[in-house]
Amino acid sequence: MKIIVTGGAGFIGSAFVRLALAEGARVVNLDKLTYAGNLENLAAVAEHPAYTFVHGDICDAKLVNDLVAAEKPDAVVHFAAESHVDRSILDPSPAFETNLRGTFTLLEAARAHRLPRFIHVSTDEVYGSIPFPGEADENFPLNPSSPYSASKAGSDLLARSYFTTYGTPVIVTRASNNYGPYQFPEKLIPLMISNAFEDRALPVYGDGMQVRDWLYVDDHCRAIHALIAKGRAGEIYNIGGSAALANIDVVRRILAATGKTESLIRSVADRPGHDRRYALSSAKVMRETGWAPTVSFDDGLARTIAWYCENSGWVERVKSGDYRAYYARNYDDRHAGV
Ligand code: NAD
Ligand code: TYD
Repeated sequence: MKIIVTGGAGFIGSAFVRLALAEGARVVNLDKLTYAGNLENLAAVAEHPAYTFVHGDICDAKLVNDLVAAEKPDAVVHFAAESHVDRSILDPSPAFETNLRGTFTLLEAARAHRLPRFIHVSTDEVYGSIPFPGEADENFPLNPSSPYSASKAGSDLLARSYFTTYGTPVIVTRASNNYGPYQFPEKLIPLMISNAFEDRALPVYGDGMQVRDWLYVDDHCRAIHALIAKGRAGEIYNIGGSAALANIDVVRRILAATGKTESLIRSVADRPGHDRRYALSSAKVMRETGWAPTVSFDDGLARTIAWYCENSGWVERVKSGDYRAYYARNYDDRHAGV
């Protein structure tokens, strides 16, 4: 099996590339290497004989078309995206370009070359905030709140339209919040771990009672891998971690595990349009593929903290340069929260 992976130098994409190679696939990784793309994430497989890296933009129609024509893959797994809500609030334009135009460009190539499988990696954020105790199944209405989630909802619908209109064999996956090694420290868990290590303030938005369902990255990748073989074209599959926690509880666990005190917690101004709660049912992917999450939150968090502790060089490198400017822009003007 040959797979074109987009965004394979990012957090989830790199974990998927490692898994797919270990499972015997040939992998072509197409990545633009934005601030979030990092070839260090793939150092362990860079010389693997079944692995090829292509540096390019998914919005580049000629490049995408030529690549698909030349490689004739059995599947495209599409991770490439601008993936951070806060950055999409500061500047929505990159999310619009990559998440919408980039997905369109890939779908056009999939249609033209009659690709046998196209996995579009979407997110539970397309459902928007879900009041307790509800949970979204795949038929739940889409109600995205941020420029990021709206761009993902748009690309998710576009991908499905290619199945309905052209019969392109698209599968859409909607996963909950991922965490694990190699996650860029702009997202909650790695940001809090890295700030705790440095005795810096841990900025909790609003009252910290927002709920996210945490999915260990390798469990997510195993679900996608199972869906390449067993998923049905035209279908949507939720992928959740069955680990719902309020942000403040996640932060407290990180402080306890890193031996730091709660005096580091800073309540700061809330994120505009902040979704209060995500919750989804993964019954369908479990029933149809036999997949289930295997890593508990306690175990996954311990593994993640250990990885960031052992890989301080990686953290230092990704936090140099542009990261500092982003951090100042997102956090410096946040007046005190509740
Ligand atoms: P990430 O930000 O870590 O990585 C994104 C990757 O895409 C990077 O390697 C980047 O260089 C590449 N990229 C960005 N724009 C590109 C372009 N125009 N052309 C080619 N490559 C480009 O993201 P992630 O957290 O690994 O998320 C991967 C996918 O999973 C995204 O589609 C995201 O929406 C989805 N997702 C993420 C989560 C999560 O919790 N992180 C949860 C559900 C779904
Ligand atoms: P994040 O990791 O950005 O993922 P998403 O917004 O896609 O769910 O944020 C997870 C939760 O943590 C979300 O409710 C926002 C909150 N959060 C903070 O309280 N402080 C922070 O500095 C960050 C980055 C996130």
